[in-house]
Amino acid sequence: MTSRRDLLARSAGAVAVTLVPSSGAARVNTPREQPVTTVDGRVDWDALRAQFRLEPGWVNLALFYLASHPKVVRDAVDHLRAQVDANPLSVPTGMALPDGPTGWPRVRQALAAYVGGRAEDIAMTASTSIGLGVVYNGVVTRPGQEFLLTEHDHISHRTAARLAAEKHGNKVRLVSWFADPATATADGIAAAVGEAIRRNTRVVGITWVQSSTGLRMPVRAVAEVVRRANEGRSPADRCLLVVDGVHGLAAVDEDAAGLGADVVIAGTHKWLFGPRGTGLIWVAPDVLEQLRPTFVSFISGGGAAPLSPGGFLAFEHAFALPVAVALHEQLGRARVATRITQLSTRAKQGLSRIRGVTVHTPADPELSAGITCFSVAGHAHQQVVDHAAAHRVRLSTSTYTRIGTAVINTPAEIDTALNSLDDLTR
Ligand SMILES: Cc1ncc(COP(=O)(O)O)c(C=O)c1O
Repeated sequence: MTSRRDLLARSAGAVAVTLVPSSGAARVNTPREQPVTTVDGRVDWDALRAQFRLEPGWVNLALFYLASHPKVVRDAVDHLRAQVDANPLSVPTGMALPDGPTGWPRVRQALAAYVGGRAEDIAMTASTSIGLGVVYNGVVTRPGQEFLLTEHDHISHRTAARLAAEKHGNKVRLVSWFADPATATADGIAAAVGEAIRRNTRVVGITWVQSSTGLRMPVRAVAEVVRRANEGRSPADRCLLVVDGVHGLAAVDEDAAGLGADVVIAGTHKWLFGPRGTGLIWVAPDVLEQLRPTFVSFISGGGAAPLSPGGFLAFEHAFALPVAVALHEQLGRARVATRITQLSTRAKQGLSRIRGVTVHTPADPELSAGITCFSVAGHAHQQVVDHAAAHRVRLSTSTYTRIGTAVINTPAEIDTALNSLDDLTR
Protein backbone atom coordinates (compact mmCIF):
# COMPACT_ATOMS: atom_id res chain seq x y z
CA MET A 1 0.00 0.00 0.00
CA THR A 2 1.24 3.49 -0.77
CA SER A 3 1.90 5.44 2.40
CA ARG A 4 0.58 8.93 2.92
CA ARG A 5 4.16 10.20 3.05
CA ASP A 6 4.84 8.70 -0.40
CA LEU A 7 1.73 10.33 -1.78
CA LEU A 8 2.69 13.70 -0.34
CA ALA A 9 6.18 13.45 -1.73
CA ARG A 10 4.81 12.48 -5.10
CA SER A 11 2.26 15.27 -5.29
CA ALA A 12 4.74 17.89 -4.03
CA GLY A 13 7.34 16.68 -6.49
CA ALA A 14 4.80 16.72 -9.26
CA VAL A 15 4.77 20.48 -9.74
CA ALA A 16 8.50 20.75 -9.40
CA VAL A 17 8.95 19.18 -12.82
CA THR A 18 8.97 21.69 -15.64
CA LEU A 19 8.06 20.60 -19.11
CA VAL A 20 7.24 22.82 -22.02
CA PRO A 21 4.25 21.42 -23.88
CA SER A 22 4.85 20.97 -27.57
CA SER A 23 1.28 22.07 -28.37
CA GLY A 24 2.24 25.65 -27.61
CA ALA A 25 -0.18 25.66 -24.70
CA ALA A 26 0.66 27.99 -21.83
CA ARG A 27 3.78 26.99 -20.01
CA VAL A 28 3.29 25.94 -16.41
CA ASN A 29 5.61 27.91 -14.22
CA THR A 30 6.42 25.75 -11.25
CA PRO A 31 7.58 26.50 -7.74
CA ARG A 32 11.04 25.30 -8.79
CA GLU A 33 11.27 28.18 -11.26
CA GLN A 34 10.18 30.63 -8.57
CA PRO A 35 11.16 28.81 -5.39
CA VAL A 36 8.81 29.43 -2.51
CA THR A 37 11.13 27.62 -0.14
CA THR A 38 14.75 28.53 0.55
CA VAL A 39 17.69 26.13 0.41
CA ASP A 40 17.61 25.81 4.20
CA GLY A 41 13.98 24.75 4.03
CA ARG A 42 12.22 27.95 5.09
CA VAL A 43 9.33 29.43 3.16
CA ASP A 44 10.10 32.57 1.19
CA TRP A 45 6.80 34.33 1.84
CA ASP A 46 7.75 37.20 -0.49
CA ALA A 47 8.34 34.76 -3.35
CA LEU A 48 4.96 33.21 -2.66
CA ARG A 49 3.29 36.60 -2.58
CA ALA A 50 4.94 37.46 -5.90
CA GLN A 51 2.91 34.64 -7.47
CA PHE A 52 -0.31 36.63 -6.95
CA ARG A 53 -1.57 39.40 -9.19
CA LEU A 54 -3.11 41.42 -6.36
CA GLU A 55 -3.63 45.07 -7.22
CA PRO A 56 -0.65 47.03 -5.87
CA GLY A 57 -1.41 49.70 -3.30
CA TRP A 58 -4.17 47.71 -1.65
CA VAL A 59 -4.04 45.66 1.54
CA ASN A 60 -6.33 42.69 0.94
CA LEU A 61 -7.52 41.08 4.17
CA ALA A 62 -10.55 39.39 2.63
CA LEU A 63 -8.80 36.64 0.68
CA PHE A 64 -10.57 33.95 2.70
CA TYR A 65 -13.79 35.24 1.16
CA LEU A 66 -12.72 35.39 -2.46
CA ALA A 67 -9.18 34.24 -3.16
CA SER A 68 -6.73 35.13 -5.90
CA HIS A 69 -4.99 32.41 -7.94
CA PRO A 70 -1.22 31.95 -7.52
CA LYS A 71 0.82 31.83 -10.70
CA VAL A 72 1.23 28.05 -10.65
CA VAL A 73 -2.55 27.67 -10.57
CA ARG A 74 -3.17 30.31 -13.25
CA ASP A 75 -0.63 28.63 -15.50
CA ALA A 76 -2.09 25.18 -14.92
CA VAL A 77 -5.61 26.45 -15.70
CA ASP A 78 -4.37 28.17 -18.87
CA HIS A 79 -2.52 25.03 -19.89
CA LEU A 80 -5.61 22.86 -19.49
CA ARG A 81 -7.93 25.42 -21.07
CA ALA A 82 -5.78 25.41 -24.19
CA GLN A 83 -6.23 21.65 -24.44
CA VAL A 84 -10.03 21.77 -24.07
CA ASP A 85 -10.32 24.60 -26.57
CA ALA A 86 -8.06 22.87 -29.10
CA ASN A 87 -9.75 19.52 -28.71
CA PRO A 88 -12.80 19.37 -26.44
CA LEU A 89 -12.73 15.57 -26.53
CA SER A 90 -9.42 15.71 -24.71
CA VAL A 91 -11.57 15.87 -21.57
CA PRO A 92 -12.71 12.25 -21.77
CA THR A 93 -9.68 11.00 -23.68
CA GLY A 94 -7.08 12.47 -21.37
CA MET A 95 -5.95 15.86 -20.20
CA ALA A 96 -2.46 16.53 -18.96
CA LEU A 97 -0.52 18.92 -16.82
CA PRO A 98 3.10 19.30 -17.91
CA ASP A 99 4.18 16.61 -15.46
CA GLY A 100 1.62 14.05 -16.52
CA PRO A 101 -2.03 13.10 -16.89
CA THR A 102 -4.66 14.82 -14.82
CA GLY A 103 -8.31 14.13 -14.21
CA TRP A 104 -10.62 13.12 -11.38
CA PRO A 105 -8.48 10.20 -10.11
CA ARG A 106 -5.44 12.42 -9.69
CA VAL A 107 -7.49 15.26 -8.19
CA ARG A 108 -9.08 12.96 -5.62
CA GLN A 109 -5.74 11.30 -4.85
CA ALA A 110 -4.04 14.65 -4.25
CA LEU A 111 -6.85 15.89 -2.00
CA ALA A 112 -6.97 12.59 -0.11
CA ALA A 113 -3.26 12.84 0.67
CA TYR A 114 -3.76 16.40 1.84
CA VAL A 115 -6.73 15.64 4.14
CA GLY A 116 -5.21 12.38 5.40
CA GLY A 117 -7.88 10.14 3.91
CA ARG A 118 -8.51 7.81 0.99
CA ALA A 119 -9.33 8.94 -2.54
CA GLU A 120 -12.47 6.77 -2.62
CA ASP A 121 -13.89 8.70 0.35
CA ILE A 122 -13.81 11.99 -1.54
CA ALA A 123 -16.59 13.44 -3.66
CA MET A 124 -15.99 16.54 -5.75
CA THR A 125 -18.15 19.66 -5.78
CA ALA A 126 -17.84 23.15 -7.21
CA SER A 127 -18.14 24.92 -3.82
CA THR A 128 -18.80 24.50 -0.14
CA SER A 129 -22.41 25.62 -0.71
CA ILE A 130 -23.05 22.89 -3.29
CA GLY A 131 -21.36 20.32 -1.05
CA LEU A 132 -23.61 21.29 1.85
CA GLY A 133 -26.67 20.95 -0.39
CA VAL A 134 -25.52 17.52 -1.55
CA VAL A 135 -25.00 16.33 2.01
CA TYR A 136 -28.21 17.62 3.62
CA ASN A 137 -30.33 16.50 0.66
CA GLY A 138 -28.56 13.18 0.70
CA VAL A 139 -28.85 12.20 4.35
CA VAL A 140 -31.33 9.36 4.70
CA THR A 141 -33.83 10.54 7.31
CA ARG A 142 -37.17 9.62 8.78
CA PRO A 143 -39.85 12.32 9.11
CA GLY A 144 -39.51 13.96 12.49
CA GLN A 145 -35.74 13.73 12.69
CA GLU A 146 -33.90 17.03 13.10
CA PHE A 147 -30.75 18.81 11.98
CA LEU A 148 -29.08 20.70 14.84
CA LEU A 149 -27.15 23.85 13.89
CA THR A 150 -26.51 27.36 15.22
CA GLU A 151 -27.06 30.92 13.99
CA HIS A 152 -23.29 31.16 13.70
CA ASP A 153 -23.13 28.66 10.86
CA HIS A 154 -22.98 30.15 7.38
CA ILE A 155 -26.18 30.95 5.49
CA SER A 156 -25.20 28.29 2.92
CA HIS A 157 -25.14 25.71 5.71
CA ARG A 158 -28.38 26.79 7.41
CA THR A 159 -30.18 27.09 4.09
CA ALA A 160 -28.99 23.69 2.86
CA ALA A 161 -30.31 22.15 6.08
CA ARG A 162 -33.62 24.06 5.93
CA LEU A 163 -34.36 23.29 2.27
CA ALA A 164 -33.63 19.60 2.74
CA ALA A 165 -35.62 19.46 5.98
CA GLU A 166 -38.66 21.08 4.32
CA LYS A 167 -38.59 18.47 1.56
CA HIS A 168 -38.19 15.43 3.72
CA GLY A 169 -40.36 16.23 6.75
CA ASN A 170 -37.47 17.06 9.04
CA LYS A 171 -36.78 20.09 11.20
CA VAL A 172 -33.83 22.42 11.71
CA ARG A 173 -33.23 23.44 15.33
CA LEU A 174 -30.89 26.39 15.83
CA VAL A 175 -29.18 26.55 19.22
CA SER A 176 -26.06 28.23 20.65
CA TRP A 177 -22.80 26.59 21.65
CA PHE A 178 -21.67 29.66 23.62
CA ALA A 179 -23.02 32.95 24.95
CA ASP A 180 -20.03 34.98 23.74
CA PRO A 181 -17.47 33.64 21.24
CA ALA A 182 -14.65 35.67 22.86
CA THR A 183 -14.97 33.80 26.16
CA ALA A 184 -16.03 30.39 24.81
CA THR A 185 -14.09 27.31 25.93
CA ALA A 186 -13.65 23.92 24.26
CA ASP A 187 -15.18 22.13 27.26
CA GLY A 188 -18.10 24.53 27.37
CA ILE A 189 -18.82 24.06 23.66
CA ALA A 190 -18.60 20.27 23.85
CA ALA A 191 -20.90 20.23 26.89
CA ALA A 192 -23.41 22.47 25.08
CA VAL A 193 -23.45 20.10 22.09
CA GLY A 194 -23.97 17.12 24.40
CA GLU A 195 -26.91 18.82 26.13
CA ALA A 196 -28.53 19.85 22.85
CA ILE A 197 -28.53 16.41 21.15
CA ARG A 198 -31.92 14.65 21.32
CA ARG A 199 -33.03 11.15 20.36
CA ASN A 200 -34.28 12.48 17.03
CA THR A 201 -31.14 14.49 16.17
CA ARG A 202 -29.94 13.08 12.87
CA VAL A 203 -27.24 15.66 12.11
CA VAL A 204 -25.15 17.96 14.26
CA GLY A 205 -23.93 20.53 11.74
CA ILE A 206 -20.95 22.61 12.82
CA THR A 207 -18.41 24.93 11.22
CA TRP A 208 -14.70 24.18 11.67
CA VAL A 209 -13.85 27.89 11.69
CA GLN A 210 -16.90 30.14 11.83
CA SER A 211 -16.78 33.05 9.40
CA SER A 212 -19.33 34.92 11.56
CA THR A 213 -17.21 34.88 14.76
CA GLY A 214 -13.76 33.57 13.80
CA LEU A 215 -14.15 30.85 16.43
CA ARG A 216 -12.55 27.51 15.64
CA MET A 217 -14.78 24.71 16.88
CA PRO A 218 -13.12 21.99 18.98
CA VAL A 219 -14.18 19.37 16.43
CA ARG A 220 -12.51 16.41 18.15
CA ALA A 221 -14.20 17.16 21.47
CA VAL A 222 -17.55 17.58 19.72
CA ALA A 223 -16.98 14.31 17.83
CA GLU A 224 -16.44 12.53 21.14
CA VAL A 225 -19.71 13.92 22.51
CA VAL A 226 -21.54 12.80 19.35
CA ARG A 227 -19.91 9.37 19.58
CA ARG A 228 -21.24 8.96 23.13
CA ALA A 229 -24.71 10.12 22.10
CA ASN A 230 -24.68 7.45 19.39
CA GLU A 231 -24.05 4.56 21.79
CA GLY A 232 -26.84 2.06 21.33
CA ARG A 233 -28.33 3.82 18.29
CA SER A 234 -29.05 1.98 15.04
CA PRO A 235 -27.44 3.33 11.83
CA ALA A 236 -30.77 4.94 10.81
CA ASP A 237 -30.94 6.80 14.14
CA ARG A 238 -27.29 7.63 14.30
CA CYS A 239 -26.46 11.29 14.79
CA LEU A 240 -23.99 12.36 12.08
CA LEU A 241 -21.40 15.07 12.66
CA VAL A 242 -21.29 17.22 9.52
CA VAL A 243 -18.55 19.85 9.38
CA ASP A 244 -18.41 22.87 7.11
CA GLY A 245 -14.63 22.85 6.93
CA VAL A 246 -13.98 25.61 4.42
CA HIS A 247 -12.04 27.94 6.73
CA GLY A 248 -10.12 25.14 8.45
CA LEU A 249 -8.79 23.40 5.34
CA ALA A 250 -5.30 24.76 4.55
CA ALA A 251 -5.55 27.19 7.48
CA VAL A 252 -5.29 24.74 10.39
CA ASP A 253 -2.61 22.07 10.80
CA GLU A 254 -4.97 19.12 11.08
CA ASP A 255 -5.99 16.22 8.85
CA ALA A 256 -9.58 17.05 7.94
CA ALA A 257 -10.27 13.33 7.63
CA GLY A 258 -8.89 12.69 11.11
CA LEU A 259 -11.03 15.09 13.12
CA GLY A 260 -13.59 12.47 14.08
CA ALA A 261 -16.32 14.00 11.91
CA ASP A 262 -18.58 11.88 9.69
CA VAL A 263 -18.60 14.33 6.80
CA VAL A 264 -16.36 17.32 6.03
CA ILE A 265 -17.30 19.71 3.25
CA ALA A 266 -14.88 22.38 2.05
CA GLY A 267 -14.38 24.64 -0.90
CA THR A 268 -10.80 24.28 -2.10
CA HIS A 269 -10.87 27.74 -3.66
CA LYS A 270 -10.24 29.76 -0.52
CA TRP A 271 -7.33 28.99 1.86
CA LEU A 272 -5.92 26.27 -0.40
CA PHE A 273 -5.75 28.74 -3.34
CA GLY A 274 -7.26 26.14 -5.63
CA PRO A 275 -9.03 27.18 -8.81
CA ARG A 276 -12.35 28.97 -8.29
CA GLY A 277 -15.30 26.63 -8.51
CA THR A 278 -13.71 23.66 -6.74
CA GLY A 279 -14.46 21.85 -3.52
CA LEU A 280 -14.61 18.49 -1.81
CA ILE A 281 -16.82 16.35 0.37
CA TRP A 282 -14.99 13.83 2.54
CA VAL A 283 -17.22 11.04 3.85
CA ALA A 284 -16.24 8.58 6.58
CA PRO A 285 -16.55 5.13 4.99
CA ASP A 286 -18.90 3.84 7.68
CA VAL A 287 -21.55 6.52 7.00
CA LEU A 288 -21.48 6.31 3.20
CA GLU A 289 -24.62 4.17 3.30
CA GLN A 290 -26.43 7.02 5.05
CA LEU A 291 -25.96 9.43 2.12
CA ARG A 292 -27.83 9.26 -1.19
CA PRO A 293 -26.75 11.11 -4.35
CA THR A 294 -28.85 14.06 -5.52
CA PHE A 295 -27.30 14.53 -8.97
CA VAL A 296 -25.97 12.34 -11.70
CA SER A 297 -22.24 11.89 -11.19
CA PHE A 298 -19.73 11.85 -14.05
CA ILE A 299 -16.96 10.53 -11.81
CA SER A 300 -16.65 6.80 -12.21
CA GLY A 301 -16.06 4.40 -9.37
CA GLY A 302 -17.65 3.61 -6.07
CA GLY A 303 -17.09 5.04 -2.62
CA ALA A 304 -18.13 8.67 -2.36
CA ALA A 305 -17.74 9.34 -6.13
CA PRO A 306 -21.49 9.03 -6.87
CA LEU A 307 -22.16 12.00 -4.55
CA SER A 308 -20.27 14.35 -6.89
CA PRO A 309 -22.67 16.57 -8.88
CA GLY A 310 -22.00 15.78 -12.49
CA GLY A 311 -22.39 17.39 -15.89
CA PHE A 312 -19.60 18.92 -17.91
CA LEU A 313 -17.91 21.32 -15.54
CA ALA A 314 -15.01 23.78 -15.71
CA PHE A 315 -12.54 20.93 -16.19
CA GLU A 316 -9.61 23.28 -16.67
CA HIS A 317 -10.24 24.50 -13.13
CA ALA A 318 -11.05 21.18 -11.49
CA PHE A 319 -8.15 19.29 -13.03
CA ALA A 320 -5.65 21.99 -12.02
CA LEU A 321 -6.37 21.36 -8.34
CA PRO A 322 -3.38 19.03 -7.78
CA VAL A 323 -1.10 21.97 -8.50
CA ALA A 324 -2.63 24.00 -5.65
CA VAL A 325 -2.34 21.01 -3.33
CA ALA A 326 1.29 20.50 -4.31
CA LEU A 327 2.05 24.16 -3.67
CA HIS A 328 0.58 23.80 -0.18
CA GLU A 329 2.48 20.59 0.45
CA GLN A 330 5.61 22.41 -0.49
CA LEU A 331 4.83 25.27 1.90
CA GLY A 332 4.04 22.74 4.60
CA ARG A 333 0.75 22.69 6.46
CA ALA A 334 2.36 23.42 9.84
CA ARG A 335 4.25 26.42 8.48
CA VAL A 336 1.11 27.73 6.79
CA ALA A 337 -0.90 27.41 10.01
CA THR A 338 1.86 29.05 12.06
CA ARG A 339 2.07 31.98 9.68
CA ILE A 340 -1.71 32.44 9.72
CA THR A 341 -1.74 32.30 13.53
CA GLN A 342 1.10 34.83 13.82
CA LEU A 343 -0.71 37.28 11.56
CA SER A 344 -4.09 36.87 13.22
CA THR A 345 -2.54 37.17 16.69
CA ARG A 346 -0.94 40.43 15.58
CA ALA A 347 -4.35 41.60 14.35
CA LYS A 348 -6.10 40.63 17.59
CA GLN A 349 -3.48 42.23 19.82
CA GLY A 350 -3.45 45.41 17.75
CA LEU A 351 -7.23 45.63 17.67
CA SER A 352 -7.52 45.20 21.42
CA ARG A 353 -5.28 48.25 21.89
CA ILE A 354 -7.57 50.49 19.82
CA ARG A 355 -10.08 52.47 21.88
CA GLY A 356 -13.68 51.51 21.18
CA VAL A 357 -12.81 48.20 19.49
CA THR A 358 -14.15 44.90 20.81
CA VAL A 359 -12.61 41.67 19.50
CA HIS A 360 -15.16 38.84 19.30
CA THR A 361 -12.82 36.03 18.20
CA PRO A 362 -11.13 34.03 20.97
CA ALA A 363 -7.53 35.10 21.64
CA ASP A 364 -6.54 31.43 22.06
CA PRO A 365 -5.01 30.12 18.79
CA GLU A 366 -6.52 26.71 19.60
CA LEU A 367 -9.97 28.28 19.34
CA SER A 368 -9.33 30.48 16.34
CA ALA A 369 -7.53 30.47 12.99
CA GLY A 370 -7.30 33.07 10.22
CA ILE A 371 -10.50 35.07 10.73
CA THR A 372 -10.62 37.83 13.34
CA CYS A 373 -14.00 39.45 14.04
CA PHE A 374 -14.47 42.76 15.80
CA SER A 375 -16.77 45.76 16.31
CA VAL A 376 -16.02 49.46 16.61
CA ALA A 377 -18.22 51.34 19.09
CA GLY A 378 -20.48 53.85 17.40
CA HIS A 379 -19.87 52.52 13.88
CA ALA A 380 -21.89 50.08 11.81
CA HIS A 381 -19.83 47.24 10.38
CA GLN A 382 -20.27 48.44 6.80
CA GLN A 383 -19.04 51.89 7.87
CA VAL A 384 -15.87 50.31 9.21
CA VAL A 385 -15.38 48.35 5.97
CA ASP A 386 -15.96 51.51 3.92
CA HIS A 387 -13.59 53.56 6.07
CA ALA A 388 -10.87 50.94 5.65
CA ALA A 389 -11.50 50.84 1.90
CA ALA A 390 -10.98 54.62 1.76
CA HIS A 391 -7.52 53.81 3.14
CA ARG A 392 -7.11 51.10 0.50
CA VAL A 393 -7.60 48.28 2.98
CA ARG A 394 -10.05 45.51 2.10
CA LEU A 395 -11.98 44.15 5.06
CA SER A 396 -15.26 42.26 4.97
CA THR A 397 -18.31 41.92 7.15
CA SER A 398 -20.97 39.40 8.11
CA THR A 399 -22.15 39.48 11.74
CA TYR A 400 -19.07 41.56 12.65
CA THR A 401 -16.25 43.27 10.75
CA ARG A 402 -13.56 40.78 9.75
CA ILE A 403 -9.83 40.72 9.14
CA GLY A 404 -8.76 37.60 7.29
CA THR A 405 -5.07 36.80 7.50
CA ALA A 406 -3.89 34.67 4.60
CA VAL A 407 -0.33 33.36 4.32
CA ILE A 408 0.42 35.93 1.64
CA ASN A 409 -0.45 38.85 3.90
CA THR A 410 2.37 40.49 5.83
CA PRO A 411 2.80 41.90 9.35
CA ALA A 412 3.18 45.37 7.75
CA GLU A 413 -0.21 44.97 6.07
CA ILE A 414 -1.84 44.12 9.38
CA ASP A 415 -0.31 47.27 10.85
CA THR A 416 -1.61 49.36 7.94
CA ALA A 417 -5.10 47.99 8.55
CA LEU A 418 -4.85 48.69 12.27
CA ASN A 419 -3.68 52.25 11.61
CA SER A 420 -6.63 52.85 9.31
CA LEU A 421 -8.97 51.84 12.16
CA ASP A 422 -7.08 53.88 14.70
CA ASP A 423 -7.85 56.84 12.50
CA LEU A 424 -11.58 55.98 12.65
CA THR A 425 -11.74 55.96 16.42
CA ARG A 426 -9.59 59.00 17.09
C1 LIG B 1 -18.35 29.20 6.79
C2 LIG B 1 -18.67 29.30 5.32
N1 LIG B 1 -19.27 28.27 4.71
C3 LIG B 1 -19.55 28.29 3.40
C4 LIG B 1 -19.25 29.38 2.62
C5 LIG B 1 -19.56 29.36 1.15
O1 LIG B 1 -18.42 28.90 0.51
P1 LIG B 1 -18.42 28.60 -1.06
O2 LIG B 1 -18.13 29.90 -1.71
O3 LIG B 1 -17.28 27.64 -1.23
O4 LIG B 1 -19.72 28.04 -1.40
C6 LIG B 1 -18.62 30.49 3.21
C7 LIG B 1 -18.24 31.67 2.38
O5 LIG B 1 -17.21 32.27 2.55
C8 LIG B 1 -18.34 30.45 4.59
O6 LIG B 1 -17.77 31.50 5.20
